Amino acid sequence: MKRVFSGVKPTGHLTLGNYLGAMRQWAAVDQHRADALFCVVDLHALTVDHDPARVRRLSRQAATLLLAAGLDPRLCTLFVQSHVDEHARLSYVLECVATDGEMRRMIQYREKAARERERGGSVRLSLLTYPVLMAADILAYGTDEVPVGDDQVQHVELTRDLALRFNQRYGQAFVVPRATHPTVGARVMNLQEPMSKMGKSDDSGPGIVYLLDEPDVVRRKVVRAVTDSGREVEYDRVKRPGVANLLEILAACTGGNPEALADVYESYGALKKDTAEAVVEILGPVQARHKELCADPGFVEGVLRDGAERARAMARPVVDAAYRAIGLLPAV
Ligand code: TYM
Repeated sequence: MKRVFSGVKPTGHLTLGNYLGAMRQWAAVDQHRADALFCVVDLHALTVDHDPARVRRLSRQAATLLLAAGLDPRLCTLFVQSHVDEHARLSYVLECVATDGEMRRMIQYREKAARERERGGSVRLSLLTYPVLMAADILAYGTDEVPVGDDQVQHVELTRDLALRFNQRYGQAFVVPRATHPTVGARVMNLQEPMSKMGKSDDSGPGIVYLLDEPDVVRRKVVRAVTDSGREVEYDRVKRPGVANLLEILAACTGGNPEALADVYESYGALKKDTAEAVVEILGPVQARHKELCADPGFVEGVLRDGAERARAMARPVVDAAYRAIGLLPAV
């Protein structure tokens, strides 16, 4: 059976982008077809300016929402990254095969570092080494496949490079993983700035649909989405990014095809109305289940405890083998 690993970072409330680009597929497909691990990557949330209490709150909320989205602890392993020491242990060793230049070329690093500097803040060293910790997340479990949205592809490519380099220099320690994506919904754009990704840590609230937004808030955000100056509903990501984004969201929610849907609509108004309803409908059951789970915090805690135990047992032998291979003396 294939091993699948993926994660979500508790830096903000989870969005429709996280859901359509990743979580939905994890629940509907990946946990059934593979030996799957899903992780709330809280160590990664410390790479930018953060409030400790908020990270704790968002970590618990992310785990609850993953369960609400349909992850089933009988089918998959759900856990919190900092509960399993192997991630940090392996990350250091991978830093010893990664290069400084490689890290500085990462698009997300360049964008985030530029944003931090614009705000007058300093760039944490952990932001630079972020992709190495992510590689450790993936490689510690002998992962074959990493289901992610488009924005994470470069990080998974780097993970492959590090695994291959380590194996070549120090002996076969890691499985070389590959990224997989959903066919529609791999890149949900911000409703107000359709050239940028709908990201949970961004400031543009009205352009982001959060998984816990009330139906009326969802409707308002979708109806106010920026469209383009043309009138005809046409699917063209380059010339009509706003309309293309709505068509893709509608397609991802209804199982349709954005090009075919463009032929169905004669006005932006009708497209927005149907898209809003499709989003409300898809979020309804997730929100209902989230509410139930919030009433039973002991259940979520138990899932995370068992998940961390299972994850540790899987990661430890892989990381121990990598330590031996690279020349560290085994502890007695
Ligand atoms: P994160 O927390 O930003 O996002 C979690 C998942 O959601 C996807 N995603 C999107 N998909 C489509 N449209 C969007 N607008 C959108 N926004 C987010 C992401 O592609 C991702 O699959 N670095 C990772 C977390 C991570 C990880 C890992 C992932 C750490 N270690 C190991 C996989 C494997 C991140 O920041 O994801």
